[in-house]
Formats: sequence, structure tokens, C-alpha cells
Amino acid sequence: MTVLLIILLAAVGYILWQKWELTKFQVTTCQIRSPKLQKQASAVVIADLHGFSYGRENNRLLQQIRSINPHVILIAGDMLVSKYEKTYQTAWKTLAELVKIAPVYYGYGNHESRLKDPERLNHLPFLQYIKQVQELGVHVLETESRQVSLGENQVMLSALELEMTYYEKGRIVPMEPSYIKDRLGGPEEEMFQILLAHNPAYAEYYAQWGADVTFCGHNHGGLIRIPGIGSVISPQYTLFPKYDAGDLRFGNRHVIVSRGLGTHTFHVRIFNRAELLEIKFLPENS
Ligand SMILES: [Fe+2]
Repeated sequence: MTVLLIILLAAVGYILWQKWELTKFQVTTCQIRSPKLQKQASAVVIADLHGFSYGRENNRLLQQIRSINPHVILIAGDMLVSKYEKTYQTAWKTLAELVKIAPVYYGYGNHESRLKDPERLNHLPFLQYIKQVQELGVHVLETESRQVSLGENQVMLSALELEMTYYEKGRIVPMEPSYIKDRLGGPEEEMFQILLAHNPAYAEYYAQWGADVTFCGHNHGGLIRIPGIGSVISPQYTLFPKYDAGDLRFGNRHVIVSRGLGTHTFHVRIFNRAELLEIKFLPENS
């Protein structure tokens, strides 16, 4: 009887704990200093929302972003779950509110890229979704660069849509050293260069290409995190992914990996709270 009670209490405790980790996101603030920035500015980065809703119609998430009042909102991919069409509607409704807060720039994750294939289930609903997202005024970037305003700074914002081979399950497919340059051209040398690239497995490549800061998601913090060790498994089923979360530094370049806001397939987060990134951009000597 005592053993049964302990098991029952442990099960209830686990369910409550999981509910808390899965439904209470935290705000992680990162600071980026650069001589290429003239004025202070801010952004929020949303990664891997996967059609999740914090409160009714994402009210809690939207309220948090309103309180940050960023100059831009950057999406580092996977706003939806490719196989669940109903997540497209949640993503669209959230984007419809986000554009009222600040300009929104939307880079693709594997869930969006997969749906560009005409053979895929939900290809047509996805095309309709993207059309409606663009009609909202969201700037959808596939693989391209645009000069954009970041507060009073002019910066170069690039998005790299990785081909699906780079999301192969169970292994990290080697990337040709010239891959990013071949697709995007060279980085901006004079202006501050931001890159949206969903998969953090190629973090060094993004820094080597020349991005001052890259924003990634994809790994969901590894679902389960062991304190002091890091993440256990990526959504690509690679074990102990090298780049799982946080502000990684490669010389003076940053690659910031979000633990993401949503989940799919395995709705588990252990020592791995969902997160919204708040980025503070600062001039070098401020
Ligand atoms: Fe992803």
C-alpha cells in the first residue's frame, strides 16, 4: 500500500512538473555588443513554437512580447507542425498579432521546408498559409538577405533555408565549406550581419561565413537536459547534440540557440524550460 502511494504521488508530481515546464516559458536575455551598431536596439526571437498556444490564442506569449516592446521580431523556424494542419491556424493567428507589435521576419525550419515539396501531405494548405502570412505583412525569408532597420541601426538580415538533407534523422550530414556562400553570397562586411538558420548543428559554419550573430532553434534544448552535462537527444534523434542551447561564441561571433517554445511528437521537457529570447543589441562602448 505504501509503495503504491509513493508511486501515485511520484506520478502526480511528474505530471504537474511536466505541465509547468511545458506551459510556463521563460525569457532569456542575451546582450550583443558590436562596433557595427550605433544605437541600442532590441529584438525577440521565436523558435519552434510548433503551433503551441500559451493561454488562449497565445495571449501570455503576446503579452510578454508587448512588454518587451522589441524593434523587430525574428522567427527562427518551425512555427507549425507539418503534419497537423490545425497548427497552421494557431501560427497564423499569432503572427497576425505579432505584426501589430513590430516588423516580423520569418525564416523557415524543417517543418516549413518539408511542406514545400508538392508530394507532401499538406503542401497546398501550407502554400495557402504562407500566402496568408505574407498578406499580414510578415516578411517571409527563404534564402535571401535584406537590409533592415533595427531601431536606429541599419543591419543586414539573412536567412538560410537548409535543404532537407541537413535534417536527416540519426546523423549530422557533413556540409560543404562553401555551402552558405554558394547559396547566400558573401556576408555584409560593413554592416552588422544577422543570420537566421534553423539547425544549430552547423553553428561553426554560420560563424565562419561571417554572421555577427546567428539565431537557431530546432533542438528544443534536447527535450531532456542533465544538469552539468546538457541535452540528451535532438529532434533529429542525434544523441547529446553538441550545440543544444545558449549563447555560443566563436571568436567575436555569436550563435544563439533557443530551447524553443513548443514541442511535437514527444511532449517532454525535463530541466529544459521553453524559452523566448530577448536580444539587446548595444554599441561597443556603451
Ligand atoms: Fe526544427
